[in-house]
Amino acid sequence: MSLRKDFLWGGATAANQVEGGWQEGGKGISIIDIERGSVHGVKRVIDQEILPDVFYPSHSATDFYHHYKEDIALFAEMGFKVYRFSIAWTRIFPNGDETEPNEEGLAFYDRVLDELEKYNIEPLVTIHHYEMPYHLVKKYGSWRNRELVDFALRYAKVILRRYQHRVKYWLTFNEINNALTNPRPWHQAGIIYAEGEDQAQTKLNVMHHQLLASALTIIEGRKINPEFQFGCMLLYPKTYAQTCNPEDQLMVREKMLPLYYCADVQVRGYYSNTCTAYWDRNHSQPVMKPLDENILRQGTVDFISFSYYFSSVVGTGPIEQTDGNMSKAGVNPYLKATDWGWQIDPLGLRLALNDLYDRYQIPLFIVENGLGARDEVTAEGTIEDDYRISYLKEHIQAMKDAVEKDGVDVIGYTSWGCIDLVSAGTGELRKRYGFIYVDQHDDGTGTQARLKKQSFYWYQNVIKTNGEEL
Ligand code: BG6
Repeated sequence: MSLRKDFLWGGATAANQVEGGWQEGGKGISIIDIERGSVHGVKRVIDQEILPDVFYPSHSATDFYHHYKEDIALFAEMGFKVYRFSIAWTRIFPNGDETEPNEEGLAFYDRVLDELEKYNIEPLVTIHHYEMPYHLVKKYGSWRNRELVDFALRYAKVILRRYQHRVKYWLTFNEINNALTNPRPWHQAGIIYAEGEDQAQTKLNVMHHQLLASALTIIEGRKINPEFQFGCMLLYPKTYAQTCNPEDQLMVREKMLPLYYCADVQVRGYYSNTCTAYWDRNHSQPVMKPLDENILRQGTVDFISFSYYFSSVVGTGPIEQTDGNMSKAGVNPYLKATDWGWQIDPLGLRLALNDLYDRYQIPLFIVENGLGARDEVTAEGTIEDDYRISYLKEHIQAMKDAVEKDGVDVIGYTSWGCIDLVSAGTGELRKRYGFIYVDQHDDGTGTQARLKKQSFYWYQNVIKTNGEEL
């Protein structure tokens, strides 16, 4: 076994983290537009409205809205076969509950697709990536409300129809399982739990609504174009047991339940025993209508995509905690961590690939993986990010081992933040992931000039050799 000849190498971004242009082209206010940037290690602050003199990172982000031609040309120069990006719901339906879409928003993504077609880059579109109209939160209570399923379906049908001959690969919800695990699922679902709210009930309803919206999108999508390929998108929380105490091992399984919960429904098409056991743990279950089971059964995905950045440890003993993606993570003494405390574990990626493939036996797509780090521009204008190369090299090697030694079917790899963007977790610009540096900073300064990092040339060669030379 070796990597497919048509392996989809590329990079990934999300609208709210790169586009900027937050009030251009008729765009509405999204849940991220009212979220302040933060400083290292501190979580972002959500305001009720836009305040004057406050830094809101998504308002300008790294300005893909005005630089998309230049950026896509750079992706092409690296040899990208695929570019994963998300469509902002607020560009298409600014408030979310309109009956007619905003043509200017649709036209923007037409222009983006024009550029991708120019360079033969396959688009991979995320329909919901941590972005939704703020109006739907204020007026309807966000995904708590089943009406959101209809609004989301209307939005999905518009973009599926509009781009039916231009986009083949679609992801419904980014890191869908995050709505079950995150104590504040603002990005994933526009939810901040009210005081005294039955959180277990809310999160199961929210998840049911999103799973329904995902399934309906796929059912409708297949009517529009039977060639569409749909994927779920999961945050993979690789977890180890602290000791060989079986209780610690059981804790690992508990930690994985939210991921299996979503994947079982999206891949298998029904709430499995794992899901009902999760209901029991939460002393609650989602409110369902009689036809919902049929919808979930019909709207299953063609492939599984996931994000993988780090791993953590759980156990019955005391465990030191470090930072992780959207949550804390138990420290593993065998691993080193990034500047942001995320523990670097390439072998964990191979294990994750094996776990998902063993369990579901459908193609896998790694759609997020990368290193958030501080980059320095030298006096000569270069960025020597050998630390990023080393992180990516080890993870790509682990992916190749999963394919070549374990027989896992992987169809593509899109490195996260292929161009510098705003961190979702902290709203910082100084946490950079890109092969392309953007001269933009947390204090609002910068020329927005694009510079190629050392990793740009390295990744270019990886793609050219289909991963043979790392
Ligand atoms: C994933 C998200 O959780 O992790 C991305 O899908 C996010 O949107 C990425 O940017 C990295 O996290 P962070 O907090 O470093 O931006």
